[in-house]
This record gives sequence, structure tokens and C-alpha cells, in this order.
Amino acid sequence: MDKVSDLAVQGKDKIEWIAQKMPVLNEISKRWEKSKPLKGIKVSACLHVTAKTANLMKALKKGGAEVMLCASNPLSTQDDVVAALNEAYGIDTFASRGESKESFYRNIHTILDLKPNVTVDDGADLVNTLHKERSDLIENVLGGTEETTTGVIRLKAMAEEKVLKYPVIAVNDALTKHMFDNRYGTGQSTIDGILRATNYLIAGSNFIVVGYGWCGRGIASRARGMGARVTVVEVDPIKALEAAMDGYAVSSMGKAAPTADFVVTATGNLHVVSLRHLEMLKDGAIICNAGHFNVEIDLHSLTQKSDEIRQVRENIQEFRMKSGKRVYLISEGRLVNLAAGEGHPAEVMDMSFANQALSVEWIAKEGKKLKNKVYSVPEHLDQEIARLKLISMGMEIEELTPEQEEYLKSWSQGT
Ligand SMILES: NC(=O)c1ccc[n+]([C@@H]2O[C@H](COP(=O)([O-])OP(=O)(O)OC[C@H]3O[C@@H](n4cnc5c(N)ncnc54)[C@H](O)[C@@H]3O)[C@@H](O)[C@H]2O)c1
Repeated sequence: MDKVSDLAVQGKDKIEWIAQKMPVLNEISKRWEKSKPLKGIKVSACLHVTAKTANLMKALKKGGAEVMLCASNPLSTQDDVVAALNEAYGIDTFASRGESKESFYRNIHTILDLKPNVTVDDGADLVNTLHKERSDLIENVLGGTEETTTGVIRLKAMAEEKVLKYPVIAVNDALTKHMFDNRYGTGQSTIDGILRATNYLIAGSNFIVVGYGWCGRGIASRARGMGARVTVVEVDPIKALEAAMDGYAVSSMGKAAPTADFVVTATGNLHVVSLRHLEMLKDGAIICNAGHFNVEIDLHSLTQKSDEIRQVRENIQEFRMKSGKRVYLISEGRLVNLAAGEGHPAEVMDMSFANQALSVEWIAKEGKKLKNKVYSVPEHLDQEIARLKLISMGMEIEELTPEQEEYLKSWSQGT
């Protein structure tokens, strides 16, 4: 390795540390090193620039692809990882923590200059920019992949309006992605982000989780595990019922807000904590968001209705509202687990990025035959990832006997 900066050395150590807990991705990478299934394929990736993502980029490069990376969020970038990717691994990466919106989009344009055959996206800003501003590049694109719930929703809306111009694989919808990453990953790392930012006690607190989808379930379960009294706020009656039977209090935001010590949003929706709710919070309440965009808390109104805003700790702003009450916002309302912490643990990103890797391989092979719509990850790939993960965890599972297989398909045998 040529002489690299201290920051790059730190980033490389971090990337190698994380790689130890990504056995499935490592296995794919090892296979690819020989077979080079991505030879000649250019990949532009817009993802959270973390050590886990670095390992995905390394794998894609090992598979023969030419890759470029930029950030999918201005606050989630790990600068040491950027330095290591650029200096130690020769992977062109354009991102810096806390970059402006202008720089964020400039970097998206830079990685599009690669003229990608495959786009790898997290939140659909890359696909959106490509369709709206760089549509001349679409003819080169075989297909794309999308990492998160919000991105999949946006892409399905594009497909519905018939404006999506190439096939995209909804990596988020693979079972080995959202059942583990969104639930256990967001669950653990959201609590981690809150703890790093506040250094407050979760035990005995009133902890409000808004949204009981995959992420919300994980956050609620981990907050309860730390001794919080958890209240779930939902709009879907079935999810709300599930939360109730999982043992949580269920309430409206209006009823829950005045009791909250912590409020965490995880809905993918707009202003689920509105000005009305913000005004109901007690003095000193902590609010944050784990959903993809920083739109879940009405930050504009919070700013308008505050006499004074100041940074009181790294990642925490104090809003002194006109009523005199103080509300504390973590990481500007951006994904708290990535902006105040380091994102999901490697063990779950192993499966998410194995899905990304195999989906990129699938597109490189099959992309030309696919239609301009959102596809699921093929079931056999999902199953294969689960199988490899279990092997890496040293676990064995049962196999159906031929007799059992036959029985499960038949209707003739009854009571
Ligand atoms: N922080 C992370 O690292 C991370 C990881 C994965 C996903 N995400 C993002 O988190 C968000 C949620 O993802 P998910 O997979 O849990 O989605 P999901 O669709 O499984 O769950 C969202 C839930 O929010 C509920 N909801 C919608 N509007 C609401 C409202 N006004 N009040 C209360 N509840 C409401 C929905 O009914 C649904 O149950 C998305 O933006 C997704 O992209 C973040």
C-alpha cells in the first residue's frame, strides 16, 4: 500500500474490523474474485458511507466492477472511511460528513459521470436525479437496486406513473434484509445513537415510538429491553393491535406527547410529530428520527416557534420555545442511528449487502430481459443468504424428508 494519511489508516482499520462480522459478503467476494461476474460493469452507488458500505464496494470491485460511491445522507458519512476508500482501496468516493445540500447533489452528479450500467441507491435520490437531470445516461443503465423502504415507495410511485425507465430490485423487500436490518439493526443502533448523543438513562423513561413497522418494532423492543415504558403511536389498526398484544401501550400522538421523555419517529411519513405535538412536550423532552428523511418532525415550525436555538452537545440542539419549554433534537432530525452513531451492526448489514451484491450480479446478467418496474429479490437468493448466514453462525437446520415434502403438497390425507 502506498503511503496514506492517518485518517485513511484509521478508516482502513475500521473497515477491516467490520469485515470480520460480514461472513456472507466475504464468501460472495471470495467467489467473485475468481469468476469476475461484474467485469466491464460500471456501478454508481449512493449509500450511507460507513465501514460496512466500504466492504460492499470492495466486493463489487473484486467482482470486476468499476465503482464510484457518494453519500445517501449528508450526516451519515464517516470521513475516515472516505479517506480509506480513496487512498487505500482505490475506490472513488465523494462525500464528507455534514456536507451541504449543494455538495450532496454535486457528488451525485459526479458519480453519474461514470455513466453507470447499474445504480445502487438508498432512498432513491440517485435514481431521481438520473431520471430528472441526467436522462441522457439512462440508455447505459441495465438496472438498479434500492436499499430502503422509503426508496422502494418512491420507485414504485415512479413505476406506477410509468416514468421509471429501467428495472430496479427492491433489496429492502428481501426477507433477509428488512426482517433483520430494519428490525434488529435499527432497533439496536437507534438506542445506541440516542445513548451516544445524550448519555441519559433509558430505564424508567417514557419512550414513544411513532410507527410500528419493521424499524419501529425493533426500536420499541430494544427500548423496553433497557427498561423504558414504551408507548407506540400508529395509524394502521392492525399494527397498533400487534403492538398492544406485544405488550406496549398504544396511543395517539396527542395523548402520548405530554408524557414523553424520548420520542423516536420511524414512519417514513411527513410531520408525524407536528407543531401541535411539539407544543405539548414537557420541558427537556428528547426528540429524534430513525426514518429515512428528516421530514418526520416538523422542524420548520419548531424553528419558527423557538426564541433561541443552540448546540448544547455534539449532535444535540436545544430549542427554547416561546412558552419557555426546551426541546432537544438529536442530529437535526436525520437518521439518529447513522448521524449520532455508526449505523447498523455489521452482522445485519452482512445480509443486506449480500442481497445488494447478488442483486447487482443478477441485474448484470438478466437486466436486459427485465421490464421497467420494481422487482423483488429472487426468492432463491434470499434463501441462499439465510442459509449461508446460519452456516456462518454455526447453526444447523432440519431438512424435509421426501415423505414430508409430499405430505405438505397433498390434500388427500386428513383426520
Ligand atoms: N435508520 C435506519 O437505518 C433505517 C433502516 C431501515 C429503514 N429506515 C427507514 O425507516 C422508515 C420506516 O421503515 P420501515 O421499514 O419500518 O417501514 P414500515 O412501512 O414497515 O413501517 C412504517 C410504519 O409507520 C406507520 N405510520 C405511517 N404514518 C404514520 C403516522 N402518521 N403516525 C404513526 N405511524 C405512522 C405505518 O402504518 C407503518 O406501520 C423508512 O423511511 C425507511 O426508509 C431507516
